[in-house]
Amino acid sequence: MTSTFAAPPPAGGTPAAAPPAVEAVQVSKVYGAGDAAVHALRGVGVGFARGAFTAIMGPSGSGKSTLMHCLAGLDTVTEGRVRIGDAEITGMSDKQLTMLRRERVGFVFQAFNLLPTLTAEQNILLPLELAGRKPDRAWFDQVVDVVGLRDRLGHRPAELSGGQQQRVACARALVARPEVIFADEPTGNLDSRAGAEVLGFLRSSVREMGRTIVMVTHDPVAASYADRVVFLRDGRIVTELFQPTPDTVLDRLKSLGG
Ligand SMILES: Nc1ncnc2c1ncn2[C@@H]1O[C@H](COP(=O)(O)OP(=O)(O)OP(=O)(O)O)[C@@H](O)[C@H]1O
Ligand SMILES: [Mg+2]
Repeated sequence: MTSTFAAPPPAGGTPAAAPPAVEAVQVSKVYGAGDAAVHALRGVGVGFARGAFTAIMGPSGSGKSTLMHCLAGLDTVTEGRVRIGDAEITGMSDKQLTMLRRERVGFVFQAFNLLPTLTAEQNILLPLELAGRKPDRAWFDQVVDVVGLRDRLGHRPAELSGGQQQRVACARALVARPEVIFADEPTGNLDSRAGAEVLGFLRSSVREMGRTIVMVTHDPVAASYADRVVFLRDGRIVTELFQPTPDTVLDRLKSLGG
């Protein structure tokens, strides 16, 4: 049996019928075929509310990255449907998916993925440039100030700390004002202090700038920055938690045996 974990009604007056920023309906993903087939996702139904920060947790191999890649249009589903805003992405051509990712989605990866020959500022503005859009200078300034990179804009990634590089990657994800930002283990390569800075920044971009973030993490402390945690096991969403704390997340993980 498959259960659907809908996005909760947002607090504070927004109509409960507001459609989620991202939605997966009965999504299955099979890698390979025959005896070698891996069922990475088995009928996942989940919605991610607009203006919310959601964490995805679960044991290694439970399907977290696969789910995120399917939600973001980086990978195709075997069965089911994915919607980003009002766009049904299932069945889109590669070209349409590329456009959609450029215009409507931001990414933050564990490995920062900055271009080494570009300065921090050039890295931040790259997605806009690729999309042929003009930067909105006031918004750029606001993003740069929130991530605290004003005095580092002319530096190349090799001249920045890991935490600063990840804040550049966060600013790059935000500057095009995407409908949703996907982050896969954004603090996986950071020490706890730099991790806390990046997480604090992700949270304030949700609270103060109304962004929508979906973040995969192994870390209960990282997950506690989110408004909601959904837990995957063996390719299924098995439970969820609202207003998580590190302790409640840890308890839930233990009860899953993960
Ligand atoms: N390209 C692929 N080809 C075949 N199998 C894959 C592929 N990508 C992932 N898998 C398998 O799908 C399952 C889910 O993988 P996924 O990467 O989504 O796990 P995860 O929850 O992100 O794990 P981790 O916490 O280790 O990153 C695993 O069994 C994995 O081996
Ligand atoms: Mg993963």
